[in-house]
Amino acid sequence: MEEKLKRIKHPNLKNRVVTPEEAATWINDGMTLGLSGFTRAGDAKAVPFALIKRAETETFKVNIYTGASLGSDIDKAFAEAGIVGKRLPFQADPTMRGKINDGEMLFVDQHLSHTAEFIRAGVIGPIDFAILEAVSISEDGLIIPTTSVGNSSIFAEHAKHIIVEINMAQPEMLEGLHDIYDTGQQGERKPIPLMNPDDRIGTSGIKIDPAKIKGIVFTNQMDSPSTIVSPDAETKQMADHLLEFLRSEIRVGRLTDKLAPLQSGIGSVANAVLHGMVDSEFTDLDVYSEVLQDSVFDLIDAGKVKSASCCSITLSEDKMNKVFGNFEKYRDKLIMRPQEISNHPEIIRRLGLISINTALEFDIYGNVNSTHVSGTKMMNGIGGSGDFARNARLAIFVTKSTAKGGNISSIVPFVSHVDHTEHDVDIVVTEQGYADLRGLAPRERVLVIIENCAHPTYRAQLLEYYAEALTRGGQTPHVLEKAFSWHTNLKQNGTMLHEVGQLVY
Ligand code: COA
Repeated sequence: MEEKLKRIKHPNLKNRVVTPEEAATWINDGMTLGLSGFTRAGDAKAVPFALIKRAETETFKVNIYTGASLGSDIDKAFAEAGIVGKRLPFQADPTMRGKINDGEMLFVDQHLSHTAEFIRAGVIGPIDFAILEAVSISEDGLIIPTTSVGNSSIFAEHAKHIIVEINMAQPEMLEGLHDIYDTGQQGERKPIPLMNPDDRIGTSGIKIDPAKIKGIVFTNQMDSPSTIVSPDAETKQMADHLLEFLRSEIRVGRLTDKLAPLQSGIGSVANAVLHGMVDSEFTDLDVYSEVLQDSVFDLIDAGKVKSASCCSITLSEDKMNKVFGNFEKYRDKLIMRPQEISNHPEIIRRLGLISINTALEFDIYGNVNSTHVSGTKMMNGIGGSGDFARNARLAIFVTKSTAKGGNISSIVPFVSHVDHTEHDVDIVVTEQGYADLRGLAPRERVLVIIENCAHPTYRAQLLEYYAEALTRGGQTPHVLEKAFSWHTNLKQNGTMLHEVGQLVY
């Protein structure tokens, strides 16, 4: 215990230590909890599990707000226990996804920079308990987060009570990485003074009123590793196409070999595409992203990165061991911010980010669906992709041209759900090639998208749809009654593929 108490440096807080089980008894039916955690990193672990245990003998529901997805199978356990009324702003767990799609729990799929504004303005909440993982509590009462900041600072500011989980498995050398800045109320705020991706503008921990800390528990558990899969031949091709595009921007003088600050979204595809830069000529790169995945550390190892700003670090097991086993090598390059700041429109536009996110599908005019399988079933959520795409210098979306063994074309006549409108999408990339949509009218985009990005198996079908759409006319020609026929064909026949001229409508 002596060793543990050293992590509570504030003199008046050492007597607040309780067990996770005791802390969990403070939580009542109908309460709203703000949990630390962003894409499996820095999540509160012990109190959520103690609460889930309570559900074995009690019936209750709570609303769960987080930064993004939780690790340690907490979202899975929450979903199985059936104790979540409403969940926001992001999740990525198959069991929880199933419960959401079955209508057994509610999910608000929110731009990740918006949650803090909603809490600050009292649109959502109030938050009864903020439950935050920390490395330590400083002498002056700052909560020092672990591997993510996410929404922790806004939760702490607005929660009625705070429970801190000090995780002894997280090294104290994480202290100094964080940069916590509060924008203040809308209408009264000043410009955010962040001019360069590696500027520090805030404090090294989360300022709180120590009186709000109702309890402190100790844990000793590393984050769950990420579930991304390694780059494959197709993602390598996508990376090559993206590099080719970036080189063409350099040739015409819009970029230099330092590019512009890079943002790369979650998932295997975005990770693999960024990984493709390891062997490129690009140098001195700044990363201004939401999550840092393995590829950013590969780029640091390759000597390509000047700075890397994020709101969470989410790594595969192997990479986690390498990075945290050799942290001094990376430390000076890393800055971790609240997600409101990592994803802030003002900063994204000011820095002129190159933003790379993943689509499930996009259509012949450039609308992108990143969230809803066949228009209705939630996958993960929009995450930060909308924050970045709307405001970036270059909004790039990547996806393989087909899914599920070729039965699904990722390029469809009309996306079955729109997350990113044609107005927000600059470049689309598949393993087939890339389409630069900037400055193109809808009728110009169609052919570039089909020729450069669609899988050859589906090109004739897409052209046939467009030919019929043209007979109807319009700025954005469509055959509305057939616009989702590919999705209905998939549902009925297990494939989007049909013989040209014999479309199954
Ligand atoms: N229809 C149905 N399923 C599709 C599909 C489509 N058009 N395209 C892909 N899929 C399936 C894949 O087959 C795969 O299924 P599996 O898990 O059963 O193997 C799954 O979707 C994931 O696709 P994958 O190609 O492996 O990509 P990924 O791991 O990179 O994830 C997203 C892609 C879109 C799900 C993910 O990037 C995401 O949730 N994005 C939205 C949030 C976001 O962009 N956040 C970043 C902001 S910083």
